[in-house]
Amino acid sequence: MVSADFQSWAAARQSRIEATLQNLLPAPGIAPQRLHAAMRYAVLGGGKRVRPLLAFASGELSGADSERVTLAGAAVELIHAYSLVHDDLPCMDDDVLRRGKPTCHVEYGEATALLVGDALQSLAFQVLGEYRLASDPNDQLHMVKLLASASGSRGMAGGQAIDLDSIGRRLSVPELELMHIHKTGALIRASALLGARCGDELGQTELDALDTFAKLIGLAYQVVDDVLDADAPTATLGKTAGKDADRNKPTYVSALGLAESKSFAQQLREDALKALDPFEDRALRLRQIADFIVLREF
Ligand code: IPE
Ligand code: IPE
Ligand code: MG
Ligand code: MG
Ligand code: MG
Repeated sequence: MVSADFQSWAAARQSRIEATLQNLLPAPGIAPQRLHAAMRYAVLGGGKRVRPLLAFASGELSGADSERVTLAGAAVELIHAYSLVHDDLPCMDDDVLRRGKPTCHVEYGEATALLVGDALQSLAFQVLGEYRLASDPNDQLHMVKLLASASGSRGMAGGQAIDLDSIGRRLSVPELELMHIHKTGALIRASALLGARCGDELGQTELDALDTFAKLIGLAYQVVDDVLDADAPTATLGKTAGKDADRNKPTYVSALGLAESKSFAQQLREDALKALDPFEDRALRLRQIADFIVLREF
């Protein structure tokens, strides 16, 4: 069970992120109107906002200013939203439902959806360039680099390439892990590191502990996504259930079965929690996020 205390902590930050994203996105009346409307459609009014929440929880470790964390979290969420728009395109997963609504290309057409992804990615980096997020400009430059490498061919986009190359193939567990830590883990990891970087510098032991935690829950996140695809109804997921099997995608479920995939996710959660030991009581929110990631139903 996710505690009421965590729910209210998360709700307050989710509404902050929502308001910030509202303000960062160009107003729908600004030309080109259709592109801006489609960008807003893809980003606003849906999604669990797990990545920004992770940035907030990590920022609590380093005493980060919440305005800075909100902007850094919003930047990651913009990249994430772009990745979903492209992931749903007919040339990728060919999905028609996302966050309980028709996917961006179904609503606005493929060409606009392509541009939505491009423009959201640019906007994310504009945010990192435009606002003061770290006291030392070199630290901020490091943040730009961190998000760029997490998004690019050695991160999320690379993982998506492995995913597309794997259709119809049987992947070994190490191959699945490699795909998942790239396509999903990289942005989750970046969220945690960016949140922490908005505050005082953490010592190397703490930074390593946070990084280990983030890598483990990043993998857990996609293992649970695979489980839910096979095990939850479309109405709960807000996206079409059973798509991985339909599209012949190798997943943890196809490799290990449902029960073993669920226990692997639990194992990752336990390992992730262990990684937080050096923080003692300071990592309460990170522990709650790890629970949320593994216990979630959508
Ligand atoms: C779905 O991400 C795609 C993955 C990378 C697993 P989320 O489950 O975070 O989707 P939203 O943002 O809550 O809709
Ligand atoms: C998505 O993985 C990873 C991304 C980088 C978007 P999936 O293809 O499994 O995500 P869903 O299930 O469509 O949300
Ligand atoms: Mg996909
Ligand atoms: Mg998909
Ligand atoms: Mg999926």
